[in-house]
Amino acid sequence: MAKIGFFSPAELTDSQFHRISEFIQKNVGIKMPEEKRLMVQSRLTGRLKSLKMSNFDDYLNFAFSGTLEGSEEIALMINAITTNLTNFFRENVHFEYLTDTVLPELAQKNIKKVELWSAGCSTGQEPYTLSIVMQEFMKKNPGKIDDYSVYATDISSRVLDKAIDAVYPMSEVESLSLELKKRYFLKSKDTVNPSVRLKPEIRQKVSFDRLNFMAPSYPRTTEKNVIFCRNVLIYFDKPTQESVVRKLLEHLMPGGYLFLGHSETIFGMDLPLKTVGPTIFKKI
Ligand SMILES: C[S@@+](CC[C@H](N)C(=O)[O-])C[C@H]1O[C@@H](n2cnc3c(N)ncnc32)[C@H](O)[C@@H]1O
Repeated sequence: MAKIGFFSPAELTDSQFHRISEFIQKNVGIKMPEEKRLMVQSRLTGRLKSLKMSNFDDYLNFAFSGTLEGSEEIALMINAITTNLTNFFRENVHFEYLTDTVLPELAQKNIKKVELWSAGCSTGQEPYTLSIVMQEFMKKNPGKIDDYSVYATDISSRVLDKAIDAVYPMSEVESLSLELKKRYFLKSKDTVNPSVRLKPEIRQKVSFDRLNFMAPSYPRTTEKNVIFCRNVLIYFDKPTQESVVRKLLEHLMPGGYLFLGHSETIFGMDLPLKTVGPTIFKKI
């Protein structure tokens, strides 16, 4: 293994890129066309640097060595390659629909505990937004819904660690109302890098788990009333998207709701879903 005293960025050759892209597409589902080569190169450069390796052949031989260290490196490779962009109340129309339509309907059906799943939860802003929305609904509609739980999953251990910490730069909550900020976030004392942390009552309702959508089936947890799987399918090819949605639907109650990202579609898929809003679907 070539070790170097200083670091100069290595180039990812065609064959090295194909080795990675085939592996990622097969095991993570993410499409890896040639246009992603530079992105992969730049994102994995940090891994080479940490391992003090000067070229991608050494890196790939190590990662794919079949050893325990290799499999740990593969997890870090996946962490580096996945795109984790997210924010609080992202695509807010979905949270409005949840508050105005879904929750009153569930309350009317006398469902006292609502089960939600944020599938592909990234650093936690989506499941914590769901937790805030539930608390707000319960506060404004006393006696309608008593309890809820949010199950949140992602493939990346790095984002899950951040999500569990629940600490975010102050800038991430700037667009939220003062009322929500005061009610659900604690402010750090650090004035140089101000941050916020979700209050325990919001965090305690969210449980995190590592789950790869490529798994043949998903863990048998309680059936869900609501599943958010947003801005994840976009990275997969059509057959993979359909297979993921099908597996998610096994965990959604009949009459439950599935929310996808705004640029995602189930068009052309033969699924027991009807469209009820912008990328909002109800299980038939
Ligand atoms: C762009 S983020 C979306 C976060 C959030 N749902 C939202 O809309 O703001 C996509 C997330 O999907 C996760 N992801 C990608 N491939 C996955 C897979 N095969 N299994 C589970 N999660 C995956 C990534 O790690 C990333 O955190």
